[in-house]
Amino acid sequence: MSFESSGPGRFIVFEGIDGSGKSTQVSRLGRRLDQKGLDPVITCEPSDGPVGRLIRQMLAGDLPVDQRTLAAMFAADRTDHLLNGVNGVKAQVDAGRVVVCDRYYFSSYAYHAQFMDMEQVIRMNQHNAEILKPWVTLFIDVDPALCLARIKANRDQLDMYEKIDILKAVRGHYLDAFGRFRDEEQVIIVDGNGSPEEVEERVWEAVSPALATS
Ligand code: ADP
Ligand code: TYD
Repeated sequence: MSFESSGPGRFIVFEGIDGSGKSTQVSRLGRRLDQKGLDPVITCEPSDGPVGRLIRQMLAGDLPVDQRTLAAMFAADRTDHLLNGVNGVKAQVDAGRVVVCDRYYFSSYAYHAQFMDMEQVIRMNQHNAEILKPWVTLFIDVDPALCLARIKANRDQLDMYEKIDILKAVRGHYLDAFGRFRDEEQVIIVDGNGSPEEVEERVWEAVSPALATS
């Protein structure tokens, strides 16, 4: 298996509903890549930049916001994450780095389709897709009830979207979005059930052959 790329850099994106184990797998893949001497860049959205910081306050309920504003802010944060002059993802991929990112535009399609037409969200992110498409998107698929149990076991305070009906709806929107982009995007659905070690192995089996051949 080999995925398409216009240069030596690789942009690997993890997606999934809240509590699916994305962050855990991002850091585990980062460690594996490190061991292989690939010196990966690990990053996430919402980003650590100024727009991303505002978004986190909104998600926590500290700043009231309309959902359409929030969707636009995620798109703006993404552009800043890609293009900012300090650690912009686009320049790092162009320089040949392997960048592993926790969430990207499929998160926007899946989460904001709850409140507006998905086509509208896709249009809001069109410039981001033109700037950089993932080399591969790995969707960590876990039953929403299990995700919520994992979140509750580890945290007292839940974010805006961390409710069972919402997690189920968001998972459905993800699958819808993957269907819409099946001819344009390389998406792999990874079974996220089982131990972190088992999921890490599945991720590695999905990605490492293409890393070696490309
Ligand atoms: P996400 O980034 O998708 O929200 P996390 O990686 O933060 O998910 O995982 C959510 C919680 O579930 C964390 O407390 C994490 O330690 C735990 N967790 C992650 N992967 C697994 C797994 N495979 N089995 C059980 N618990 C897990
Ligand atoms: P994140 O910090 O990844 O949360 P978690 O680790 O619990 O999955 O993301 C924060 C929230 O932001 C999450 O509920 C999904 C949401 N989100 C959007 O609504 N739109 C977006 O474009 C992105 C990137 C995230």
